[in-house]
Amino acid sequence: MTAISLQNLDVSYDGNRVVKGATFDVAEGESFALVGESGSGKSTVLKAIAGLAPEWAGTIEVLGKPRSHRPDRALARQCQMVFQDPYGSLHPRKTVDSVLSEALKIHGLGNRDERVEQVLTDVGLDRRFRFRYPHQLSGGQRQRVAIARALMLEPKVMLLDEPTSALDVSVQAEILNLLKRLRAEHNLTYLMVSHDLPVVGFMCDRMAVMTKGEIVEIAPGTALHDGAFTHPYARALYAASGG
Ligand SMILES: Nc1ncnc2c1ncn2[C@@H]1O[C@H](COP(=O)(O)OP(=O)(O)OP(=O)(O)O)[C@@H](O)[C@H]1O
Ligand SMILES: [Mg+2]
Repeated sequence: MTAISLQNLDVSYDGNRVVKGATFDVAEGESFALVGESGSGKSTVLKAIAGLAPEWAGTIEVLGKPRSHRPDRALARQCQMVFQDPYGSLHPRKTVDSVLSEALKIHGLGNRDERVEQVLTDVGLDRRFRFRYPHQLSGGQRQRVAIARALMLEPKVMLLDEPTSALDVSVQAEILNLLKRLRAEHNLTYLMVSHDLPVVGFMCDRMAVMTKGEIVEIAPGTALHDGAFTHPYARALYAASGG
């Protein structure tokens, strides 16, 4: 099955179109990257899929179901987003426990204690962390909590917006390894934005290259080893990364 299917997706802010005709499919279980310069529209594509972009046109399908312009609770459960900055995305006055329980409450799910402890274990944090506040965690631990929050509802698709770029290089590798393990253990599909082509090479099967709101090339991850890009912008991006 196709996990994510975009056809001619346009997204605008205040009438200004910043994503133009984005079209691609991500297969179930695949790890797919969006790369391209700052401002090219990568985060906006993720936000539109997550239902966080107010103005969009075209078709967005998640697990075969078209997204409408209304909030969709069932879809929210299956498709979760992790943001770049774990400081900004975690409420400073909420404990890890309340951050993780929140989605369970909203969706009326029980066994909260058990689920919270299980997900903490899944992301490599022990129960001592459960009643801490974000400021009592390191950057890497905070990002583990953000990932745990996304996993709470047992989604099938994860939208990862530069999940490690706010972290120290040494911590980046830990989080990337964690994400890789979680994908295998939970049969997840990833759509991941990254500036870092080596990270994409490590994490992703395929990638879409974006510039100025348009997808100009879709390439296999192996293109990062053999340089098999055809579009001039994609070739320049590859060359700039030392390829
Ligand atoms: N909330 C917003 N309101 C108005 N314009 C926005 C908003 N968010 C993003 N934009 C604009 O939309 C365009 C695409 O932004 P987007 O955040 O998707 O880029 P990006 O590729 O994720 O960039 P970066 O790599 O820097 O994160 C940019 O020109 C940006 O200024
Ligand atoms: Mg972005």
